[in-house]
Amino acid sequence: MKGKVYLHPLPVRIWHWVNAICFFVLMLSGLQMRYGDIIELISFMTALKLHNIFGFILIANFFLWAIYYHVTGKIFSLYIPAKPGQIGKFLKDLLIQSMYYGYGLLIGDRNPHEPKPESKFNPLQKVSYHFVMLFMPIQIITGLMLWNPACFSRWIDLLGGILTIDTIHVFLTIFYLSFIVVHLYFATLGPTFFSHIKAMFITGYEEEH
Ligand code: HEM
Repeated sequence: MKGKVYLHPLPVRIWHWVNAICFFVLMLSGLQMRYGDIIELISFMTALKLHNIFGFILIANFFLWAIYYHVTGKIFSLYIPAKPGQIGKFLKDLLIQSMYYGYGLLIGDRNPHEPKPESKFNPLQKVSYHFVMLFMPIQIITGLMLWNPACFSRWIDLLGGILTIDTIHVFLTIFYLSFIVVHLYFATLGPTFFSHIKAMFITGYEEEH
């Protein structure tokens, strides 16, 4: 009989909801500000205002995420891919998981990772979520510098000028855009098309394989 396992507690689901909404508004308003000369869906000023408002919501939400995962102590078990002595085993598991997504899944093999609350991410998720959350402070700090360059002028000069800051912000945006495309695809690879999405956005319960 298929069981269910509670993987995504309510605070994590709320964080993910808010984070997903913020990312979509930030991406769209950011693209509108940059490419407004090609296609103008909303005015530059409206896009700028939306970008600032949702940027600050994202920052507050990021702090809530960091506090929650530190208080529960789960940040290390979930978001750090491997301890120094376990890198070899982790790389082997990473290869097994990649082979499953590249081939095993297509011929109906079992997913090699059995999710549990204390180890809910497979090795590929661990690596990608690690970098997604590690780069978040860099995206936030560069965003704050672009929001008010006068206030951060010393730091901006120290880091090579506003163009460098803007380039870092745009490169990370490209990273996040690519992540979201892959993330959305993987989100549909559960037992049914919507089962992972339902678990993360509504119930918190994942079906066991
Ligand atoms: C509508 C858009 C999105 C959907 C449908 C979606 C779907 C999911 C699903 C199903 C999970 C559960 C775990 C898994 O299967 O990997 C998950 C977890 C996660 N997602 Fe998303 N996601 C979306 C947007 C985003 C965005 C924009 C980000 C950040 C840039 C993000 C970052 C994460 C992270 C870090 C986790 C792990 C959360 C945790 O359990 O600690 N997601 N997402």
